[in-house]
Parts: sequence; structure tokens; C-alpha cells
Amino acid sequence: HFSSQSRNLLAGKKVVITAGPTQERIDPVRYFTNHSSGKMGYAIAQAAKEQGAEVVLISGPTTLQVPDGIEVVHTISAQDMYEAVIKYFVHADIVIKSAAVADYRPKDTFLHKRKKQPGTWSVEMERTIDILKTIGEQKTTQLLVGFAAESENVEEYALSKLHSKNLDLIVANNILQEGAGFKGETNIIMTIAKDGRKKEYPVLSKIEAAKCIIEDIISYTKRQEH
Ligand code: CTP
Ligand code: CA
Repeated sequence: HFSSQSRNLLAGKKVVITAGPTQERIDPVRYFTNHSSGKMGYAIAQAAKEQGAEVVLISGPTTLQVPDGIEVVHTISAQDMYEAVIKYFVHADIVIKSAAVADYRPKDTFLHKRKKQPGTWSVEMERTIDILKTIGEQKTTQLLVGFAAESENVEEYALSKLHSKNLDLIVANNILQEGAGFKGETNIIMTIAKDGRKKEYPVLSKIEAAKCIIEDIISYTKRQEH
């Protein structure tokens, strides 16, 4: 363990972080999205910067202020985010995927506003690309960190994502637990590293949780060096 006063433990490291939701367009006025505020990802970007990292934040639509000294790439859809991640991932040392990426998008999109009609409207949805799984397949030296947002069997599902997406570390949370999840100011996280090291945290502010995630990433890299 090292003190939280430690500074510059990521000096010279390039860290790419995704944050926020994605928006999947149907027509010029309508889209599908989710409740992600982006706060967790922005806090991780800040925590990485405080450790001296060179940070690129790939952000879906949020209302958050970008911290000074962080390069931001704004994206809207899952496809946009995928293209940005692919571009920055090659030169990254660490990639942290906290974004809540839509799993589905409307199969057909309309150039003009769709007028209302009598009766029901069914929107057919198709799968988006799994960004994290794709970079897990392509990774060389990058350390890859994913999130698992679960409402049951948290540890079991998180472990299965850790392996199926070829990650080095996964941050899991139970989105139904009071004090955790997408919208609030706090989170209750568990981190599981590929070498089996597991840490469970109490309810923390997203700022504090972000510092814990960055510390767990740093201690994982230290264990790998030995
Ligand atoms: N993720 C991604 N691209 C997607 C979907 C998810 O990169 N199209 C990433 C998220 O950013 C997160 C991790 O995969 O880091 C896990 O996301 P999650 O929604 O918990 O898991 P899924 O693999 O999408 O599975 P499911 O939603 O069915 O639980
Ligand atoms: Ca998902």
C-alpha cells in the first residue's frame, strides 16, 4: 500500500478515459440514451491528472465542466466513441472505459422529423459495437480497465466481463444499491484485477472512488513489475 499523498505515480503515462452516456439518434429530434452523468469518468480523469498522467477524456454528452489540463474529445453515439477510442488507444498506456455505452441503436434513422401517426410505433434496434471487447482483442501493451454496471450477481458478472473482454482490471458496482450507480454523487465500488486481487469499498464520493480506482491500477502495475 502507498499513501494517498503520493504524487506523480503516473508521470509520463498516457491515459485515455471514456465517460458519460451515448446518444443513439432516431430522427433530428429524438434519441435513445441512459442515465449516466459522466461524473465517475470525469473524476477518474482528474485523479489520473493529479498523478501526473497525460489525460485524454473521450466524453459522451454531459453537462460537466472539463477540468483544466485535460484534452477532451466530444462524442455522441457509440459509433463516434468507438472511432475516437480506436484513434487514441494505440498510443495509450492505460485505457479506462467508464462510459455507459448504448448496447443498441435504432436500426433505421430518419433524415426528417417523423410525424406522429395513429396507433403504436415500434422501433427496431440493432446492436452497437462493443468498444471494450474490440480493444481487448487488439491490445498489445495497454493496460485495460472496464466497468461492470450490474443489478444482481455483481462479482460473478464482473469476473466474466474481466475475462471475456481481456481486461486487466474491472470496476464493478451494483446500480440498485443505495448510494451507487449512474446519477448520484456517490458510488459503491469493487475492483477485481486479473491477478485475482479484489478490493471492496464503502460508499464514497465519486472523487474518492476515482482516487481508489487510480491507486488500484497503480498497485496492479507495480505487482506486474515484480
Ligand atoms: N462497453 C463498451 N461498448 C459497448 C458496451 C459496453 O465499451 N457497446 C464497455 C463499458 O464502457 C464498460 C464495459 O463494457 O466498461 C461493461 O459494460 P456493461 O454495460 O456493464 O456490460 P456489457 O458488456 O454491455 O453487458 P450487459 O450490458 O449485457 O451487462
Ligand atoms: Ca451494456
